[in-house]
Amino acid sequence: MKNGLKLFLGVFATLALSWVGLLLTAHQQIGSLSQFKDPVDETLYPQPLSGLAVQGSMVYQDLGCVSCHTQQVRRDGFGADLGRKWGQRGSYARDYIRDSVVLIGQSRLGPDLRNAGNLDLHPYADADYFYRLLYAPQSVAPGTNMPAHAFLFEVHALAGRQPSAYAIKVPGKFGPGAGYEVVPTNRAQSLVAYLQSLKDSYDYPVERSRNASAEKPKEGGH
Ligand code: HEC
Repeated sequence: MKNGLKLFLGVFATLALSWVGLLLTAHQQIGSLSQFKDPVDETLYPQPLSGLAVQGSMVYQDLGCVSCHTQQVRRDGFGADLGRKWGQRGSYARDYIRDSVVLIGQSRLGPDLRNAGNLDLHPYADADYFYRLLYAPQSVAPGTNMPAHAFLFEVHALAGRQPSAYAIKVPGKFGPGAGYEVVPTNRAQSLVAYLQSLKDSYDYPVERSRNASAEKPKEGGH
């Protein structure tokens, strides 16, 4: 082959350029992001997940929740996510630095969950609500496509034993019947801790001002 060297250099340059473009620049832009220290209360954001929530994120991966739920809120002008109460602001790269596996997802069969635990947006979304949703989705959202995850719970007969302090409240029609109680397993408890931890309410000044300058100023400003 006469032009072997040229061919090699050409292929090499193409690969090297795409490596620089796709990996190195992206890494320089977001790879070195660190927690932000709030100048007033000196708290670091994003705050790390509790150990239980980290376990819950593994259950979330294990059960494939990511196949129906995204965790990325688009800011105004890029989608209607804020109008659907999926977040109070668009997601920033910095929001994800605490996650060892980023569960952004790509299919939106169900709602975006990046702020599932944000009680300002969904005041009803307490632990009880998540347990009921996982055990019997139809009991909180009739007609929903969200599959039941009843295997994350144990049904105990009450006869002759103390009721569990962890038993969940399931509306009659969806429950196992009188004389039985539904108790979440460890996996259900950690998954719910993870869902409750999902809230990106802190607005980082750097990202906010960068977005503000990219957006058209709203009437009256803000
Ligand atoms: C087959 C698709 C599918 C899968 C898999 C799935 N979900 Fe859902 N999920 C939905 C749909 C659809 C809804 C919307 C319910 C409704 O109609 O209000 C939903 C709703 C939810 C909500 C309520 C959100 C809100 O704002 O009220 C949570 C929380 C949730 N899912 C968590 C999970 C978790 C955790 C898993 C994994 C264990 C999971 N989902 C797996 C489809 C799915």
